[in-house]
Formats: sequence, structure tokens, C-alpha cells
Amino acid sequence: MTQRKQVVYSRKGGPNIIEIIEEEMPSLKSEHIRIDVHYAGINFADLMMRVGLYGAAPPFPFTPGYEVSGIISEVGAKVTNRKVGERVVAVTGFGGYSSSVDVNPEQSFVLDEDQDLAAAAAIPVTYATAHHMLVHLGRIRKGDSVLIHHAAGGVGSAAAQIAKVKGAGHIIGTSSDIKKEFVEKLGMTHVSRKEDFVHVCKSITGGKGVDHALDPVGGEHLMKSYKALAKGGKLYSFGASSVIPGQKRNYFAAFKMWWKMPKFDPLRMMNSNKAVFGVHLGTWENEEIMREQMQEIVRMHRNGKLEPIVDSIFKLDDAAKAHIHMHNRKNRGKILLDCRE
Ligand SMILES: NC(=O)c1ccc[n+]([C@@H]2O[C@H](COP(=O)([O-])OP(=O)(O)OC[C@H]3O[C@@H](n4cnc5c(N)ncnc54)[C@H](OP(=O)(O)O)[C@@H]3O)[C@@H](O)[C@H]2O)c1
Repeated sequence: MTQRKQVVYSRKGGPNIIEIIEEEMPSLKSEHIRIDVHYAGINFADLMMRVGLYGAAPPFPFTPGYEVSGIISEVGAKVTNRKVGERVVAVTGFGGYSSSVDVNPEQSFVLDEDQDLAAAAAIPVTYATAHHMLVHLGRIRKGDSVLIHHAAGGVGSAAAQIAKVKGAGHIIGTSSDIKKEFVEKLGMTHVSRKEDFVHVCKSITGGKGVDHALDPVGGEHLMKSYKALAKGGKLYSFGASSVIPGQKRNYFAAFKMWWKMPKFDPLRMMNSNKAVFGVHLGTWENEEIMREQMQEIVRMHRNGKLEPIVDSIFKLDDAAKAHIHMHNRKNRGKILLDCRE
């Protein structure tokens, strides 16, 4: 029997509700593989579900964690396409903050010997989200201009890399001032969170506006991103970070975000040929499209075209500290948990 250690959200609340438990794993299902987890990725959504403001989360108590990397320790009797000892990155749905996970082999992607396991754990959610927006939905073209918010974060840094690989022209990134240098190193023109980014986007593009705007903030910020678009531009609404300004649930912030969400006018959109995409990987149902994108991303990483940036690695026992690090807007790139015993 395999023993595992995992994080559990016992109830909704601040980082203090995070518990670490040890338990025996049930026997492996014949159609699953078992992964000895080395690293688990932390996502902003994990914070939102901890405070109880994430609709797609399971009921409490549960173990969060969308993605892991590690080594296959056991293969179910019906699995023919994976072997014990293979190094993989996998999408878990939930349950990734754990020293061992069971998944369907189709949710895993085999890595080469020289693909770093920490870098690999930083790939699935951030790169799939960025790729899905810019490449699958946005059909980004050479020379296109792109506006990226939270530009120094997980999705932000991934989006900047994908935009560059696809030959984007101007890439404009907003973040806290302290991350200016980091954002510029990623090839973006930095805009402070306090600056008028609509004005900057217009002036950099000769008055036209940007071809793609990636908005994970929501509320009134989303309309500003729409205004930053050029005619024919595309806005991707993929988050609501303004809903949790602190470490705990805040009804006022949640209400304000919801109340200020723009109601787009289809006639105006038609006249300016603008598009607004709603994007949520957690509820995306076409697995084949997502799998193809993940395969392409893992390939690009193998070929050195994408380089996931790991900000910091916390021990599994310190998951609460890792959350506080993200709440405090400290991360530049991805935060991981080291789940090895
Ligand atoms: N729809 C989807 O499928 C999907 C998938 C992945 C991520 N997302 C969304 O994309 C956004 C980024 O996610 P991520 O996991 O890559 O996180 P992240 O960007 O690595 O980390 C959070 C960053 O967001 C900024 N931020 C803005 N408001 C914040 C707040 N209230 N509390 C803390 N940080 C705040 C901070 O950067 P600055 O201070 O520099 O701005 C912070 O460093 C989130 O809104 C997330 O929900 C959506």
C-alpha cells in the first residue's frame, strides 16, 4: 500500500485553514497510472477556491492542485502506453498538492531525460491557458501587438514567451512596479499597474490599439482592456483577480467586481469588429483540442523554444507560506511545491 502526504483545504478561509494529512492510498485502478510527485504547480485559482470564491471547485474538504510532474511508480493492468519509471507531467483536475497521485494516462505527457521536472510542473495551466488564448482562439499572426496583465506571473510570463515565438510585434505588460526589470527581460514594454495602460497601448501602436488583450482582472478593468484594442482586436476575459484583494474572502470586493463587470454591446462590437472570448480551462470540454495544445507546448519546451520560469519552490508542508507569497504579489513566474518525502 502507498502512503501519501497531501494538502487539504479543511474549510474556506485564509491560508491558516490549510492542513497536511497522511493517508493510505486506495489500490490503483486498472486504467490509471500512479505518479510519484516531485513538484506540484500553484495557481491563482487555488487561492480563489480556498477562500470559497471559485465556482468550479469541489465541496470542502478537498485537495487542490491542477498539475504535477514526477515519475510513474505503478501502471494499472489495462494501461499499455505508459511504463514504470517514465518521467511525466500531468494534469490532475484537483488533488495535485500531494506526494502521489493517480491519473488517466491520457492526462500525462512523457518527458525527455533532459526536461527538468521543476520546469515541467510549471507548464500545464499557464502555457495551456496562454496558448489557448493566443494561438487556438486568437490565431495570433506575425507582427500582432499584445497586451498582457499580471505580466510577471505564471500565465503572464508564459503568454509573453508564446507571443514572442509566434513573432508578435509590440508586447505590453502590466505589473507591480517592482517587477519592471523582470517584465522587460521577457521582451515586454512595462506599464505600471498605476498607469493608464489604454493610453500607453494607443501611443505605442500609433493610435490603433492592440490586436490581443489578455485580461485576468475582471470588473471595470475588463472594459479598459477592451478600450485598448485596435479595430479587429480580440479580448480574452480569463480571470477575476480583483475579487480577492487580500488573503481572505471579502464580500465587498466580490460584489464590486461583479457589479462593475462590463456588459458588452454587440452592435458596437460589430462596428469595430472586436471580439470578446470567455476563457476557462477548468470547464473546457474538448479534451482532444487541449491535449493537442499540451503536446505542442511540451514539444516547444523540449526544443528550447519555451522556458518556464520558476519563481520559488516551497516544501509541501509550507503550502500556506507559498499561498501567502502569491497573495503578497511577490512571484515572478511560477510557484511550485516540492512534494518529495
Ligand atoms: N481562465 C483560466 O482558465 C485561467 C487559467 C490560469 C490562470 N487564470 C487567471 O490568470 C491570472 C494569473 O494566474 P496565475 O496563476 O498565473 O497567477 P500569477 O499571475 O502567477 O500570480 C498572481 C499575480 O497577479 C497579480 N495580482 C493581481 N491582483 C492580485 C491579487 N488580488 N492578489 C494577488 N496577486 C494579484 C500579482 O502581480 P502584479 O502585482 O505584478 O500585477 C501577482 O503576482 C489569475 O487571475 C487566474 O485566475 C485563468
